[in-house]
Order: sequence, then C-alpha cells, then structure tokens
Amino acid sequence: MNQPKRYLVTAALPYANGPVHIGHLAGCYLPADIYVRYQRAQKRDIKFVCGSDEHGVPITIRAMKEGITPQEVVNKYHAIIKESFEQMNISFDIYSRTSNQIHHETSAAIFRKLYDDGLFEEKETEQYYDEEKKTFLADRYITGTCPICGNPNAYGDQCERCGSALSPEQLINPRSALSEAVPIMKKTKHWYFPLQNYEPFLKQWILEEHKEWKNNVYGQCKSWLDSGLQSRAMTRDSNWGVKVPIPGAEGKVLYVWFDAPIGYISATKELTDKWADYWCKNDTKLVHFIGKDNIVFHCIIFPAMLKAHGGFVLPDNVPANEFLNIEGEKVSTSRNWAVWVHDYVKDFPGMEDSLRYVLCANAPETKDNDFTWKDFQDRNNSELVSIFGNFVNRTFVLMHKLCNGKVPKLHLDILDQTDRAIIEDIEKSKGKVELALEYFKFRDALYEVIDLSRKGNKYMQEKEPWIKARQTTSNGDLTEEAQKAVDNCLHICLQLTANLAVLINPFLPSTANKMLYMMKVVDKILDWENAGKIKLLSVGYSLRAPELLFRKIEDTEIVVQVEKLRSGLVKAETEQKPQENKSESMSSALHIKPAIQYDDFAKLDFRVGTIVTAEKVEKADKLLKLEIDLGFEKRTVVSGIASHFQPEEIVGKQVVVVANLAPRKMRGIESNGMILMAEDKDGKLKFINPDEVTGNGSPVS
Ligand code: MF3
Ligand code: ZN
Repeated sequence: MNQPKRYLVTAALPYANGPVHIGHLAGCYLPADIYVRYQRAQKRDIKFVCGSDEHGVPITIRAMKEGITPQEVVNKYHAIIKESFEQMNISFDIYSRTSNQIHHETSAAIFRKLYDDGLFEEKETEQYYDEEKKTFLADRYITGTCPICGNPNAYGDQCERCGSALSPEQLINPRSALSEAVPIMKKTKHWYFPLQNYEPFLKQWILEEHKEWKNNVYGQCKSWLDSGLQSRAMTRDSNWGVKVPIPGAEGKVLYVWFDAPIGYISATKELTDKWADYWCKNDTKLVHFIGKDNIVFHCIIFPAMLKAHGGFVLPDNVPANEFLNIEGEKVSTSRNWAVWVHDYVKDFPGMEDSLRYVLCANAPETKDNDFTWKDFQDRNNSELVSIFGNFVNRTFVLMHKLCNGKVPKLHLDILDQTDRAIIEDIEKSKGKVELALEYFKFRDALYEVIDLSRKGNKYMQEKEPWIKARQTTSNGDLTEEAQKAVDNCLHICLQLTANLAVLINPFLPSTANKMLYMMKVVDKILDWENAGKIKLLSVGYSLRAPELLFRKIEDTEIVVQVEKLRSGLVKAETEQKPQENKSESMSSALHIKPAIQYDDFAKLDFRVGTIVTAEKVEKADKLLKLEIDLGFEKRTVVSGIASHFQPEEIVGKQVVVVANLAPRKMRGIESNGMILMAEDKDGKLKFINPDEVTGNGSPVS
C-alpha cells in the first residue's frame, strides 16, 4: 500500500476473566505499542484501540464458580487489566469494554444488517444440555473420552493428549464439566454464517494479495482455506452477551467471536466522532496485533463478516506472534504457571522498561520462545545496564568532568576516520530501525538501537578522553590539542545519546523520558525525523547531572521469582486435586459405558495390520504418524502415542485397527483409522494384538 493517510491499530481484546500475564504483553500489546509509538513519532495520524472482551462462556463459567454475577466478574478484571496496561505504558488511545452500551448497539446493528440481507442460515440442531444447571453446554464444558486416543478427559472441542480437534458429539461417555451430570440432547435454533460463500474472496484477498503477511499467519490461513470453510453458528444460548436483535430469539446472544472484534469499531466510535474515517475510507491502514490463537478469527471470520456487511476497510496486516513459554513450560493460568503483570510491577517498581526490553528482545515473533528469569536478569544486566546505560552514564560523567557540564564544540579540523565512522553509524541507524519497524520486526529493530550504543562504547574506548585529560600545561589546564580531542569525542557521544533517546523511545518510553530530563530538552526532540542528525544538542548548552537509567538485578531477586512460580504451581495443584480425582473416578474402569445393541457393535470393522513405518509429527510432541499394512492396502494413521513409544521400537508390530473410522485431519495429516490400545492404571499404553502373527487384513470380531 502507498503511504496511508491514517492508521488504525488494534490489539486483541483480552478476556475479562483473569489478569494479564507477560505472555499477553509479548504476544500482542507490546509490539502494538512499539509500532504505534513509532508511527506517532513519525507524526502519522494514528489511533490505537483496545478494550476488555467481556462476553462469552469463560466469563459466565467464572461467575458460576465464584458465585457472583458475570457483570461483577468483568468489572473486577477490567479494572485490573486496565491498570496493568497503564503500568506497562501501553499507550492505547482508548481502552474500552464490550459491555458498554455503544458496543451492544454497534454489534447488534451489524448482525441485524446481515440478517436483513438474508445472509444467515437458520438451523435447528440438537446440542448438549445440562439439566441440573439448566444450561446448554459450550464445547469446552463437555468432557469425555477421546475417540482417537482414548484419553478419558478430552474436551468437547479438543483432546489435549493427542491434539485432535473434536466436536462434542464425538466424545465417548460425555459429561458436563459444570455438574458432572450426563448431558442430554436438546433442540435449539441458531443463525449460521456461511463462511464457505466467502472462500473465493478470502482466497484472492489473502493468498494472492497478501503474500507479505508473516509466514505463520499466511500458513494458517492457507491451511484453513485449503481444507474448506463451513457455516459457523453466530449465536449462542445464554443470557450474558449481546441479545440477538431479531424476533423469536429470546435467551440467545451473539457468539462472542461475532461481537468481540466489532469491539474495535465500537471503541473507535467511543474515541472519536471521526471514527468512520478510520473504518470506512480506503486510505486507512488497519493493523490487527494478536496472538497466534486468534488468527482464524481476525483473518477469516471477521473479514468475511465485514465484507458481507460492506463499507468497511479490511486489515492491511495481521502480525500475530507465537507463544511465550515460561521457564520451559507452556503458560497455564489454571495451573498458575504464569508471570502476572500486576505482580511484576509490584516486585520491580519503576522497572517496566526492563520487562519491555526483555519481552521485545526475546519476542516470539516467528516461533514459540521461552522466558526465563535468568535470561531476564542477564539481558537486563549485560545489555541494558552494561551497554546502553553504561554508555549514556559515561558520556554524562565525562562531560561534567572534562567539559564543565556543557555541550562541547565539534572541531572539524581534527575530525578523523574514527569520528567519521561513528557519525555514519548514527546517520544510518535511523533507516535500519525504521525498516525493521515498518515490517513488524521488533526484535531486529531493538537490536539495531542497542548495537548503536555498543558502537558508542567502542568509540569512546578507542578515543580514551580520560587519557587525553592528563595532557595538561604547567598551570593544570588541558593543552589546546587535548581539549579539542576531548571536545570532539564528547560532542559526538552526546549527539549519539540524543539519537539513542529518539530511537529507544518507542521501545522504552520511560527511559527516553529520563534521558530528555538529563539533556534538559523538550519532548519535541523525540520526533522521528530527528533521528540520524548530529545536531540535536546545541554547543554550550548545559546539561543536568547523570542519573542511572537502569539498575542491576541481583541473583537473590531471581531466586525469589523462580520460587514464586514453583510455589504458585504447587498451590494451584493442591487446590485442584479433589476435582481431578472426581473426574478420574468417573472415567475409571469401574464406570462401564451405557449398553449398546449388537448392531452398533457390528458397525465397527476391526482388522489386523502391521506397522511398517513410524515417525514423529512435527510440532506435535504427542503424535506419531504410522503407516499400517492392512494386506489389501497401506493406511496412514496418526496416533497419540508418541510419549509412550519411540518410533523405531514399534515398527514391525502387529496391531488391531478400526478400519472404517471416517478420515480425520490432524496437524494437516489425514488419519485413516485408529489403533486399539489398552491403558493400565498408571496410564501406560499397550498394543492389542493377536497372540500369534496373523495375516494382515484379517478381520477381528
Ligand atoms: N478475548 C480473545 C482472547 O483473549 C481475543 C478477542 S480479540 C477480538 O483470545 F478481536 F475479538 F476482540
Ligand atoms: Zn485424544
């Protein structure tokens, strides 16, 4: 796109059912904030909107568990989340919430227009219903046995053991996660949005016109589009959410993924009367910052909705990050394995920039990354303190000692090769940082800034002004030649410092402000156009005494944090124990599934087969891809047994295969069948096979 007239930047609306952790920051809020601060410094017309996502099942469940109303849940977390963002200097132009009136009106109006245009399909289906709790059960709140791997605690949308995506009807022996009751099937009517109708448009728009999107984003879109889209229900049975604005829809609300992204529009409306410029004019550049679990909603579903409605701009880019793990393990809020932002700001007061620094330097831009407290300490101490902070501090200390606290002159007559080289580095860094930021490469951009300060240190080391300062005349003054050399070095180091303030500002805004204070300059100097200039500070201007920009983090502080993580985990696990035991007994061997008729059994076609190849499935630590010889053909079967067997140890083994199970895609691989396994009480898996080698393809009955 040509230089856009205006920018609209959104960051995913966090669910108001818990506080935010550093993974949230690293995934979307921090990169979005850096991008926006940079564009503001470029004097671009830009709005940065966000807010709390206050609808949906997670919130009603939380309310039910805590015995309070959903409104009380969201009020509590909205306040906590908002404060955490403020403390981390995430500079939204507005932080709104989807329980606001304006949002209900906006999302209802969009639904109504699609409805009036006849774009929904109305369908009656049967869904699981918990009679005890008098509520329909969302997929996540039905548990049962996974039909693929036999995990007794799979969820209605996914099995966490084998990674398969499931739908609730596939679960064997389903039960309600709310009451443990066996759910019944009950009829209900909903409005479906036929995504498949937008497939040609989406294919053209994403796969052809947005090849520049990040690989992870483009790849996920392509795989969704390649496997074919389906109608998706845009309403739910619930009384918490935006009421479905049509007759005959009592007790129904909009699907949270229908209303939440419209929250971006409502928040913009709340922010400015000119909201339509940002949402409806083609020369707007709309950018959605999100985490990778939100890709399909922002790249496929929401754009299809906007397209169907007409009149709205579509995102120009959707830079999604991957996940940030903590100390080598996936973040889990239920296990309390997370570093909470409100805890961090309490434990490290005034050090929000240290966290911003580490989360950006180590951002999960192209793959999942790991946050460890040791790495946090190392980067803070050896990069922020020892490189950037040290350079600025030395410059100020020496300038006070050797130049009377004033910006010294630059003597062009003695400018040498070393001086010219560093001046060139300063001039070039603007372009490098800028290019990286425009392309959402925040780590690279930050690296360039730190690298410039590293070069500053090296320059000073080579120039050694403290040695020159020993060349004095008999009355103790510096010789003229020595003074000139000292002047040049410190003049350049000070101009470099001013440049560092401009360049670091999008990343570490508090640090940039401290630097402004020390240089006694107004924040106008942080305008991006000033980067790369060697004339930011005027000769003779007196500057303040240095202040330390960063402080070292001690080993003991880190030990405390790691301890806190581990003890939080232990606490969460003991609290959850009773519940876990309960569900385990529900699914134990004692619990025989409901009786079936012989006909049901006869539908199954079991066959003997031999595993001929076995290999790990990339990025799925639980899955093995097996090739099984059934005599009459070879089959690919994906099985969730990778944590039980090494691929090489099972090649050649005979197994029993459910040979007429409908094919399923797992991690992009089509699985044709399933192998039978026995699970002992320790959870160990054993193959079921004939007691003597039997011909491949032999039926089992
Ligand atoms: N609440 C969702 C999440 O935390 C994100 C919603 S983004 C929006 O995953 F676009 F829907 F607002
Ligand atoms: Zn499974």
